[in-house]
Order: sequence, then structure tokens, then C-alpha cells
Amino acid sequence: MMGPLITAFFLLLFSGTTVLGQKPQSAPKPGKQCDSLVYKDKEQSKGTPFFTNKAYFNGKPIYQYDSNSKEAVPEPGWENADDWNQESQFQKRREGFGMEYLREIMAYYKDVSGLHVFNGTYGCELCKNGATNGFWRYDYDDRPFIEFDKEKPAWIPKEPAANIIKEKWEADGSVTQAKEYLEKTCIENLKQYRDYKKAN
Ligand SMILES: *[C@@H]1O[C@H](CO)[C@@H](O)[C@H](O)[C@H]1NC(C)=O
Repeated sequence: MMGPLITAFFLLLFSGTTVLGQKPQSAPKPGKQCDSLVYKDKEQSKGTPFFTNKAYFNGKPIYQYDSNSKEAVPEPGWENADDWNQESQFQKRREGFGMEYLREIMAYYKDVSGLHVFNGTYGCELCKNGATNGFWRYDYDDRPFIEFDKEKPAWIPKEPAANIIKEKWEADGSVTQAKEYLEKTCIENLKQYRDYKKAN
């Protein structure tokens, strides 16, 4: 059971491509001639909503999912750009995994009752000259925590606690699928949103 579920976590979660050293969450600079699709996740131990997932095309919001509504709600102008029902189901499953990872990190640090935040950014960029970039990384309490290196491919821990997450995320060969997701699926999604925006 865990294998297929972890795989689903990656395939559904990942919407990115990665080039280390770039600032992934920033929109492309004017004149750079690139489109970008960026997703942001946030899991927090206290307060509500405890989980959110948002997507951005060229820095502008596409939809927002949160643990209160359990629904991926499109922004005005994006109503028919995707199957929001399916996106809601994906994000609901991701919410479960994300909160479990947060709890495990908190347990590692022996503070299961404090306020802690595990948040991530993943996405890709497609430039007019055909060049692509991608990335996927997570912070814990505003410190770099783990980052995907798609050339290896491998998850690179940024602090000792991240090894427990790395082990899980590499347990069933998901790194290969993650890489493929970053290099292909994210770019396909980006084109889908781009073409929708052109036509609507
Ligand atoms: C996590 O959230 C902080 C505060 O909003 C932000 O500065 C940081 O870039 C986020 N980290 C990731 C990996 O998304």
C-alpha cells in the first residue's frame, strides 16, 4: 500500500522542474521571454487552514486549495482551465501526506506541540528558445530543509532531520518519476495553462 501511495504523492504533488541555484518562486524577469508555472504548499501545526496549495502562472494565481474548503478553487479567468474536481481530490491526498511529514519532523525535534511550518515550492519554466528549468524544495521553520536534484536524481537533505523524509521519498523509486514529472508533466501543464490563457 505505501509504495503506490508514495508514488501518487510524488506524481500528484510534483509540478515542477528544477535547476538548483535559481530562485524558483520568483516570476521570470521582464524580457526573459519565459513562462512559469509555480506551485506552493504550506503545512502548519497550528492555526487554520493547516494546509494550502496554490498555483501561479507567470506569478499570477491560478487556483487555491485549502484544508478548510477541501476544494481547489480557480481564480477569475481560470474557471475552465482544468478539472478542479480532480485537482481537489489530488490535493486532499497530498494534504494527508504533507501533514504526516510535518508531524514526523516535529517528532524528530521532540516538539510535537509547538507551532511549526513545513512549506514547499515546485514548478517549471519554459522559455521562448525552448530552454526549460525546474525545481522542487521544502523549508522547515523558514530554514532550507530538502531539495530535489533532478540530475542525480536525488533528494538533498539540508539538515539531519531531512534524512527521514529523503528515505521515504526515495524508498520506491519515486525519484525517477519525480524527475520525469519535473521535465515533462510540469511543462505539459504549463503549456495547457498558457494556451488556455491565450484563448480566454
Ligand atoms: C516558505 O514560506 C516562507 C514565508 O512565506 C517563504 O519566504 C519561503 O520562500 C517558503 N519556502 C518555500 C520552499 O516555499
